[in-house]
Amino acid sequence: MNINIAIDGYSSCGKGTLAKALAKELQYRFIDSGAMYRGVTLAALRKGLNFSMSEDLIGILEEIHLDFETKADGSNGLLLNGEWVEEEIRLPNVAAHVSWVASIPQVREQLVSQQQSIGASKGVVMDGRDIGTVVFPQAELKIFMTARPEIRAQRRFQESQQKGIEVSYEEVLANLQERDRIDSSRDHSPLTLTDDYRVLDNSDLTPDEQLALALSWVQEAKASIR
Ligand code: DC
Repeated sequence: MNINIAIDGYSSCGKGTLAKALAKELQYRFIDSGAMYRGVTLAALRKGLNFSMSEDLIGILEEIHLDFETKADGSNGLLLNGEWVEEEIRLPNVAAHVSWVASIPQVREQLVSQQQSIGASKGVVMDGRDIGTVVFPQAELKIFMTARPEIRAQRRFQESQQKGIEVSYEEVLANLQERDRIDSSRDHSPLTLTDDYRVLDNSDLTPDEQLALALSWVQEAKASIR
């Protein structure tokens, strides 16, 4: 029997890495909900919208169609109105505006309802900030990921360097801390740790160790609903 797995936590905690590995192992569908908020942000940037005017953004929501595609080489990414934008949504300009976009209630309502329909048939691993609290409050397994801020900043800094994105470690750390602050203090669906989550602090764990731990939780979750 398939279950839904919600993975929430701060940015750059390795949620995506674990979610992808779990989805592969369990043959579930992986959905990166943050990519959807980034997709809306990219659409707004391309339109040259004024980011202090939420009305403008709400006005273009119906022109934005988001989807996920798995390429022949197995890589999975976001399509914005049919165009592959998986790399572009990771650029610093999108990162700098996405928390603001994600704090607009109408944006969240629209994306949450899309996410809920994706998860309706179960067998989904979705990572984000509000997956276990708002999108799938009934998820059979909820994981809250965390890691020390300097470790998270170092990981994202290395990723940026590998991709040739010019940004300093200090800028990465500052962006990450600012996003943590906005993500957990916004009025609408803030990142919140409730007591039905399993907490996974991966500061000192390898990806394989995290996967093994999460798979043991999957077994427990499945056993408890039988
Ligand atoms: O996980 P990420 O860094 O790609 O997320 C990008 C932004 O989107 C981040 O600022 C938080 C926001 N987000 C959100 O509010 N709710 C989600 N379910 C996923 C991401």
